[in-house]
Amino acid sequence: MSTKPNLNISSLGILVPYIRRHALRLTGILALVVLVVSVDLTQPIIVKEVIDRYLNVAHPDPSSISWLSALYLGVVLLTFGLSYLQDILLQSTGQRIVRDIRSNLFGHILSLSVKYFDKNPSGRIITNVVSDTEALNNFFTDFLSNTLRGTLTLLVIIAFMFQLDLHFAAWCLVVVPAIIWVSRWFQGKLRVINQDMRGKLSILIAYLAENLAGMSIVQIFHQEAKQWRAFDGRNRDLLKAMLKENHTLLLFFLFTEALSDFGVAGLVWFGSGPVLRGTVTFGVLYAFVGFIRRFFQPINTITMQMNVLQSMIVASERIGQTLAETPDIPESPTARRPDTVEGAVDFRDVRLAYRPGKDVLKGVTVSVKPGERIGIVGSSGSGKTSLMNLLVRFYDTTGGDILVDGHPIREWPVEELRRTVGIVQQDITLFGGTVLDNVRFFRQDIPRETVERVCEEIGADAFIKRLPQGYDTRLSERGSTLSFGQRQLLSFARVLVADPKVLILDEATASLDSETEAVLQEAIAKVSRNRTLLVVAHRLSTVQMMDTIIVLDNGLVVEQGTHDELLAKGQHYWRFYLSGQLQQFQKTA
Ligand SMILES: Nc1ncnc2c1ncn2[C@@H]1O[C@H](COP(=O)(O)OP(=O)(O)OP(=O)(O)O)[C@@H](O)[C@H]1O
Ligand SMILES: [Mg+2]
Repeated sequence: MSTKPNLNISSLGILVPYIRRHALRLTGILALVVLVVSVDLTQPIIVKEVIDRYLNVAHPDPSSISWLSALYLGVVLLTFGLSYLQDILLQSTGQRIVRDIRSNLFGHILSLSVKYFDKNPSGRIITNVVSDTEALNNFFTDFLSNTLRGTLTLLVIIAFMFQLDLHFAAWCLVVVPAIIWVSRWFQGKLRVINQDMRGKLSILIAYLAENLAGMSIVQIFHQEAKQWRAFDGRNRDLLKAMLKENHTLLLFFLFTEALSDFGVAGLVWFGSGPVLRGTVTFGVLYAFVGFIRRFFQPINTITMQMNVLQSMIVASERIGQTLAETPDIPESPTARRPDTVEGAVDFRDVRLAYRPGKDVLKGVTVSVKPGERIGIVGSSGSGKTSLMNLLVRFYDTTGGDILVDGHPIREWPVEELRRTVGIVQQDITLFGGTVLDNVRFFRQDIPRETVERVCEEIGADAFIKRLPQGYDTRLSERGSTLSFGQRQLLSFARVLVADPKVLILDEATASLDSETEAVLQEAIAKVSRNRTLLVVAHRLSTVQMMDTIIVLDNGLVVEQGTHDELLAKGQHYWRFYLSGQLQQFQKTA
């Protein structure tokens, strides 16, 4: 187990631009801190004055006492007001900065390529965006003000003490090494415990996210009890870590409290002699008691801030790492869209390895003419989805080239490419929002009429109109209240409203009822009229509609031709057909 990780304070550098942006407010806050400390510390001094000067039986001076009492009250109120102002300003600035960081972070995450999300489980990204940024908030709300306030208080107290009485002051400072030693010891312990706790928390969040995403699987396999136990175990680990932290913190506070009590006791014991002898006034002794109490607090605070600093560094390191991730789908500086877009697609000796040395595509060469309908079939894992993902640059090829309209896709502006080549993915994703929102995918520039026209064209309007509020029906998260076929129709419509010249349809492997199947078939037939169509087909009815069928096997094109030609050949496609891997439906007339 690593106890003392290498902490790099420079990772806090990510805060610099935000500090700059809020420099004025932060300066104001720091000025307030200085003011609060100075005002607060005049309290023991005022009481000392009252005791020593005016609480005198021989020469009573009630008016001065009243006056100083009023001053004392004023100081208390002023401290209250200034502290309030300072905290409000600090919190709001801190939260603003956290909001900025969070938004920038999410903006950056949106720009990252699919590969990043293959590597990083969503739970981890969530922790990064939600709780790591929150840890940075502490920099402003806790660290900055407390450290400054603590240090200032210490310095001012020491100055006051020495000014009041040299001997007393020296005596008080004797206990300092003891406090520092105790503080440091606890701080070391707390650091390890805190890190352990954060680790356990992120494990818990990751587990939760995974289970939420796969809830139906969990339930289908009746694994609720097992998953719950596993969660409970992780939760218990977190509890243990949290309790340990609380316990250590409590001990720390009690220890320092006790130390400060010892300090007071020692002061009284040591100081009563000089007071009785009259070499030191009682007021001075009183002021010292007040000071020594106020003396331990900042030391406590500063020690605690070292832990805050620690977790902040870890958090900003993680945020920094995310921000340093670059999209690995670079846009060429010379990228441009060809003048005319016809929809021709050329795969030239395309290779792809997700991991070095493990080729998933091993040199695929396919040429698709504008308007042609291509069906791609092959057993599961043969690389069909991978090949399609390359065409919209979710990944870049490891070798070979892909051209759209004779222009390498690396030379296309990515946005233009994705507008020209639409993809209906195998995994359907819908978002919380209305049917309309989902189809135009929040691109408000797409008019409602277009959405309705497209839905009508592909036959989706029949079921949409049956929904309670038609196009304005709100869908649940991930559209889970719709049937699979309906969701597929919606995701189909979503791609079509942008009117892409090339349409990729990665058919889902899930079976459909015959009615939905017929609707989808009809839809495919309609949309292929004025565009190039690449369909990863899992259904016989789809394959039969295609001009050309490409059989992919283990990352290679092994056959190419029409349904009848390939059947007649009696080889790969024929075997594939016979093996029943294409889903068939009886025609419902
Ligand atoms: N993101 C990824 N990272 C690593 N390996 C991957 C990734 N996506 C797919 N693969 C691997 O690449 C191979 C081809 O997968 P692909 O999804 O292209 O198959 P497919 O032909 O679409 O299969 P199916 O018919 O089941 O959809 C598989 O061995 C798969 O494990
Ligand atoms: Mg696939």
